[in-house]
Amino acid sequence: MRNLILTVLLSVIAVVSGYVEELDDKFKEYRQDELWLVEFYAPWCAYCHTFEPIWYEVGAELKSLGSPVNVGKMDTTEHSSIASGFNIRGYPTIKLFKGDLSFDYNGPRTKDAIIEFTNRVSGPVVRPLSSVQLFQHVMSRHDLIYVYIGGESLLKKEYYKAATEYIVHTYFFSASEEILPKAVTLQDVPVVAVFKDGTYYLYNEFIDGDLSSWINRERFPSYFQIDSFSLYQMGEQSKLVALAVVDEKNPSEESIRYKTLMERLATEYRDHYKSDYQFGYMDGNEYINGLIMGEVAIPSIIVLNMTIDGYCLPESKIETIEDLLRFLNSVLDGSTSLLGGNGFLQGTKRIFFKAKSTVVSMFQTAPIFSCFVCGLPLGIVVMVIWATCTAVPAYEEKPEEGATASPALDAQGKKANELQSGSAEKTSEAKKED
Ligand SMILES: *[C@@H]1O[C@H](CO)[C@@H](O)[C@H](O)[C@H]1NC(C)=O
Repeated sequence: MRNLILTVLLSVIAVVSGYVEELDDKFKEYRQDELWLVEFYAPWCAYCHTFEPIWYEVGAELKSLGSPVNVGKMDTTEHSSIASGFNIRGYPTIKLFKGDLSFDYNGPRTKDAIIEFTNRVSGPVVRPLSSVQLFQHVMSRHDLIYVYIGGESLLKKEYYKAATEYIVHTYFFSASEEILPKAVTLQDVPVVAVFKDGTYYLYNEFIDGDLSSWINRERFPSYFQIDSFSLYQMGEQSKLVALAVVDEKNPSEESIRYKTLMERLATEYRDHYKSDYQFGYMDGNEYINGLIMGEVAIPSIIVLNMTIDGYCLPESKIETIEDLLRFLNSVLDGSTSLLGGNGFLQGTKRIFFKAKSTVVSMFQTAPIFSCFVCGLPLGIVVMVIWATCTAVPAYEEKPEEGATASPALDAQGKKANELQSGSAEKTSEAKKED
């Protein structure tokens, strides 16, 4: 019975893994006319192994959905020349290839999120909305969409260009004036609108600068639950992030007050702060602690400069909206000093902090594997020391026994050398992989 289950399981895995192609150097040639979603991995990357079943599920689901996107994976250590051409910095890296363009996936590594991304990016860059019903359907499904309203124009060309750049983050549509809800009043067409926060905002080229940077600035809701992925993306935004760090499972009265204050500020002072601040709240302090290399209290209010990993904490307790306004303004005018950052000292501290947390989490998630990984170099060092020490007394042996002693010494000595060069090779290999 158990054998049967095992056989069935294995054949399911075989079928499912059939939807993911192992790619090699020829990928460069045949990717031109096809859509490809590719995972770049390294055999030594432990997380890549954990991720593998998800990748197979992605392949199987795209196939069953009838998606035109092929799914592949590439061992970057074996095909390093092609991988370096794609600028792979971490593992696993996920990219979607569409014609000459490639799009990086930076979201959560879950099946649903990856499939959503694939469907969005592989489809048309700008999707036409042809009816009131379709418009309402789209609005009900997405928190944030951009819509171009009007006929052919220079603005439309710019809109397509910006959409190609930002399709990795969100959806872009086009529509005619007639299909918009009655609540939308336009003075001029063509125009670009962002629908979010339960309302809409229009792009004004005289106030907002070029379209592409306006789209970048507006691509998050004014106030929302921020996770580590969206926080990371905010580094590209040249906005500060004002965050209420709270415990969502056991919200204290103060947590709720901080969130309410943040939300009020985000809506009531939107026009005032929209180019300086992104507002939101975050559940738990784990990610922030890693970022600032310290511990923030829960709940607390913090301002982050994601470009340089800098942060500001209020000097006194925030009780009212005036306190919060004062704090945000003091960050803007520079009277509250920025801590952290990625200067030399902070950079060094970060390396140690990261190394420490990596080792800690390694031992927490895979203790036996970690013992092996940490034990191996230690074992080699011990063996080298042992080999050297046991070789020494041979010199002190009597001449007549020297004849028998020296071959043993040779063997020992040689062994030690082998081991040393062996470990030297290991480190140089490890460097290469880095
Ligand atoms: C973040 O800090 C850098 C360096 O101090 C500064 O140039 C940049 O303007 C800051 N970013 C924001 C959004 O204020």
